[in-house]
Amino acid sequence: MAKYLVTGVAGFIGRSIAAELLKRGETVRGIDNFITGKRANLVGLEAMEFIEGDLAYPSACAKACEGVEIVFHEAALASVPRSVADPVGTNTNCVTATLNLLVAARDAGVRRVVYAGSSSAYGDTPTLPKDESMLPNPISPYAVAKLAGEHYMRSFAQVYDIETVVLRYFNVFGPHQDPASQYSGVLAIFCRKMLAGEQPSIYGDGEQSRDFTYIDNVVRANLLAASAPAEKVNGQVMNTATGSRITLNDTFRILRELIGYRGEPNYLPPRSGDIRDSLADIRLAGELLGYQPIVDFREGLQRTVDWYRNQ
Ligand code: UD1
Repeated sequence: MAKYLVTGVAGFIGRSIAAELLKRGETVRGIDNFITGKRANLVGLEAMEFIEGDLAYPSACAKACEGVEIVFHEAALASVPRSVADPVGTNTNCVTATLNLLVAARDAGVRRVVYAGSSSAYGDTPTLPKDESMLPNPISPYAVAKLAGEHYMRSFAQVYDIETVVLRYFNVFGPHQDPASQYSGVLAIFCRKMLAGEQPSIYGDGEQSRDFTYIDNVVRANLLAASAPAEKVNGQVMNTATGSRITLNDTFRILRELIGYRGEPNYLPPRSGDIRDSLADIRLAGELLGYQPIVDFREGLQRTVDWYRNQ
């Protein structure tokens, strides 16, 4: 019987958490519906019990949660522009799926659910850095859906006998992130294109900034959130980031150097639903989890480029 369940395990973040758990000798079950997850991401996770299933169906959630102690809920239909194109799909795969999973987890006696929140919850307020006491101001349907999931987490921690912890991820990147979709994260797209000698596009003037967070930091935060004492973390929301930010233009310049790309970016009009600047205050996760970033942006980018180069 698996101790841990990872939802969205064929996605980039889910597979990274599962891989670390297996490395530590833990028993893991994973579930994915392959809407955006990739079978290739399951390579190396053969020791895991895998269920192909969709969290939009309560029966799949019940099967996934059976006998489990801790859930890492990474499944989602990520992407701001995808949610602008398909708000209902985003709601089904983020909100309905999360509620179904929580109900199943409660009924199965799961002890704790750790949830992948999103920095998009903060919206485009000018105050930086973003800290958890700020009033959320979601702009895109994606941000609304991820925030609704956060509220369900906090609600369940208060009204039922289940612990929940929310980690608000800031622009996660690293190996295994899908670079091939128009909805992929910007660093995955840039790596793929520039390694192939193709010109990347920048939406807007490129002076928008992000707190890009290398995947190992996110995996670390999740493991800390799973093991931290309930009196400290139950019902809490914590930023998961590096606490520093960089513009897309500067990111492009670093990547150009790492990859040896010679061209310039193609500047296009700004993207609808985009926010300008994003930077996390990471002190709360430091206090409650002992979280500190372990891999900085440049080192993470180097490792990411190396990984895509070898694909
Ligand atoms: C948002 C969330 C993030 C969430 C992610 C899920 C914020 C601050 N962040 O990321 O927490 O995990 O959605 O998808 O809300 N861009 C280009 N060229 C490209 C692709 C993107 O210039 O080819 C630009 C975008 O317009 C944006 C920036 O790069 O300004 C980052 O885009 P993306 O990687 O999609 O992430 P966010 O929308 O910031």
